[in-house]
This record gives sequence, C-alpha cells and structure tokens, in this order.
Amino acid sequence: MASKKISVIVGSLRKGSFNRTMANALINLAPKSLSLTILPIDDLPLYNEDLEERPPRSWVDFRAGAVLSDGFLFVTPEYNRSMPAAMKNALDVGSRPWGKSVWNAKPGAVVSVSVGSTGGFGANHHLRQSLTCLNVPVMQHPEAYIGNASDLFDKDGTITVPSTRDFMSGFMSSFSDWVARF
Ligand code: FNR
Repeated sequence: MASKKISVIVGSLRKGSFNRTMANALINLAPKSLSLTILPIDDLPLYNEDLEERPPRSWVDFRAGAVLSDGFLFVTPEYNRSMPAAMKNALDVGSRPWGKSVWNAKPGAVVSVSVGSTGGFGANHHLRQSLTCLNVPVMQHPEAYIGNASDLFDKDGTITVPSTRDFMSGFMSSFSDWVARF
C-alpha cells in the first residue's frame, strides 16, 4: 500500500528549535507507512481577511501543500501556557476561505516539546481545542508531552534517551494506525 503523506507543522520558528529537532527525529522514527515532510509556516503573514482578495503567495503555497496531505503531525512549543502565535496563525490561514479549509476531516496528532518539566501540556491542549473546531480527528492516545528537551538530543538531533526514543517510536506507529482508519 502507498504510504500516507503527512505534513508536519512545527510551531517554533527558531533555528535551534527543540521542536524542529523532534520533528526531524520523528520523521526518521516513522514507519514506512507514513511519508512525512515539514510544511513551513515561517513566512505566512498574519491572517487578515482583507488579504483574501489577493492572497499572499506564501498563503497560496501553504494551502496547496496542506491540501495534498493525508494527515497532519503538529509539533509545538508552549508559549505562556498556550501554542505560539505562529502555530495559531497557520491554523487560521489554512482554515479559510470559508468552506475550503485544508484541515477538514484529515487525521492529526499533537506532540508538545518544552525545556520545562510540564512538557507543553497547555499548548498541547489549546491546540487540540482549535483542532476540534477545524474537524481534525486528533489521536487521543498515546499523548506526547515531552519535557526537559535540552537533555534529549545529541548534536545530530538523535534522541539519546532510550525510553523517550522508544516512546516516540511507539507514538509514530500508533499515529500510522490512526491515519489508516480514515
Ligand atoms: C517560553 N517557554 C515556555 N516553556 C514552557 O514550558 N511553558 C511556557 O509557558 C513557556 N512560555 C514561553 C514563552 C515564550 C515567549 C518563550 C520564548 C518561551 C520556554 C520554551 O519551552 C523554550 O523556549 C523552548 O525551547 C521553545 O521551543 P523551541 O523553540 O526550542 O522549539
């Protein structure tokens, strides 16, 4: 069976992002049934409905990439107990024009990664709240709240903590099963 195309949306824009490092690690850990690529959100202008008359090129490209996906993996930091504005902006851009949302009825999963010990729980659940509105069926279990991110990776971005690597590997297998249901 052909592998399912999954767009990975990373909520951090910074170069050394632990979330981006995790996203790349998950691409390597994923089973062959999934084909994952990061869909960039860095250059999306803030959502403004007035711009829909002549949508910015980056909005058009983002929507075109997302609409071809079979599902979405969201990997997000926590900013002030919620998701970063860049992540919310990507959700908003993809949700319009009305009736043409790129997210609708596509399966998803959420991973939050934080340098703190609470693993981005607040961001993870605020993101899930928006995804409910967007009709993205989100994998409920396993949940992935990954804390202490500064101790997780080697300089090549490999997860060095065996229990975390095994957990994330299992997470990706479960996500593959979840995607196959839709
Ligand atoms: C943070 N950080 C943070 N961490 C956390 O666990 N809970 C929080 O509410 C916040 N709030 C917060 C706000 C802002 C504006 C910044 C810049 C940072 C710390 C955050 O987890 C840390 O910077 C991560 O390294 C961000 O993820 P990336 O960029 O490494 O992927």
